[in-house]
Amino acid sequence: MGSSKFLPFLQLVLCSLLLGISNGQSIVPVVPGLSYTFYDSNCPGLEIIVRSHLWEVFNNNITQAAGLLRLHFHDCFVQGCDGSVLLDGSTSGPSEQDAPPNLTLRAAAFTIIDDLRALVHNACGPIVSCADIVALAARESVFLPNGPYYQIPLGRRDSVNFATRPVTLANLPPPTFNTTSLINAFAAKNLTTTDLVALSGGHTIGRGHCASFANRLYPTQDSTLDQTFANNLKLTCPTNTTDNSTNLDIRSPNLFDNKYFVDLMNRQGLFTSDQDLYTDSRTRNIVTSFAVNQSLFFEKFVDGMLKMGQLGVLTGTQGEIRTNCSATNVNNINIDLASVVRDHQEQEMLSQY
Ligand code: HEM
Repeated sequence: MGSSKFLPFLQLVLCSLLLGISNGQSIVPVVPGLSYTFYDSNCPGLEIIVRSHLWEVFNNNITQAAGLLRLHFHDCFVQGCDGSVLLDGSTSGPSEQDAPPNLTLRAAAFTIIDDLRALVHNACGPIVSCADIVALAARESVFLPNGPYYQIPLGRRDSVNFATRPVTLANLPPPTFNTTSLINAFAAKNLTTTDLVALSGGHTIGRGHCASFANRLYPTQDSTLDQTFANNLKLTCPTNTTDNSTNLDIRSPNLFDNKYFVDLMNRQGLFTSDQDLYTDSRTRNIVTSFAVNQSLFFEKFVDGMLKMGQLGVLTGTQGEIRTNCSATNVNNINIDLASVVRDHQEQEMLSQY
């Protein structure tokens, strides 16, 4: 992203507004209770607030986009896109965040969502859900690093509980899954094989830790790995317990493009779950079609995101609009009351002097 901040940002805003007007809406149906105009009258500046803050964040560190995109996936696949992954569980036991697949979510992603929530609520009042903010942040995390722009239906509400560790584990596919297991995991969410391959293209940005792919290097090397690529991975992860990380897409790790699929065709996919999409005859042609046609990938990725982004949403009077994304409002009230009592005690102590 350029260093001159203002002009490119203006161009982006104009460009996205134009795209929003000229692009036809995706054919993916909108779930009852969500709408493309949900905050138009009560928070018209919502999308610009989110985009301008993330523009600044990404200008400092573009890799944060990957953390936000993954956060939305992990939110939606476990109990629906209800912000449950944001609950820290401090007052009610281990949360989704404490389950192994979520331990590698970026701490910064949670902070960025909190900051966005504060900005949005300051401007519009506490009417926008954390789940919607996560969905909007994921959209910007695709668009700002050069990916497709797409409008998303809004109106999600936040859950008042989170999933247990076994439920979290059962819903998030591990990187060791082969294509059969991945197809089944996605079918369980009504997502097609094309959705699976397209959404896996989210791995065009971001990083993975050795623990997520060391099984392909030790004790024996996965035969589908390109040898030079494998040698470099071994330099990054000299043992199967090294705590290091590497880019998911070796060709253009910070751009949202179709190079991930070119990687797969060259046997340079990082995880088993990536590379097997090219090995398996059911998904190989889809991988190739995206590798040679970025527009097709973008179109199918957007469809997949719109479907994934509406999984198990809470709407209407369900759930709540959290005033702090990491705690339910009930727990928040407790926290607020505690601080009120503390403030009162401090006042009393001060008045004694
Ligand atoms: C198909 C099943 C999927 C599996 C098995 C999977 C697995 C993983 C794993 C293991 C990591 C790296 C964790 C680490 O070692 O730090 C990762 C990172 C990532 N995943 Fe996935 N993922 C899948 C689908 C998705 C989807 C659907 C998206 C979004 C559309 C996505 C977006 C990302 C991003 C952006 C990162 C990089 C995060 C960062 O740099 O902080 N993944 N994924």
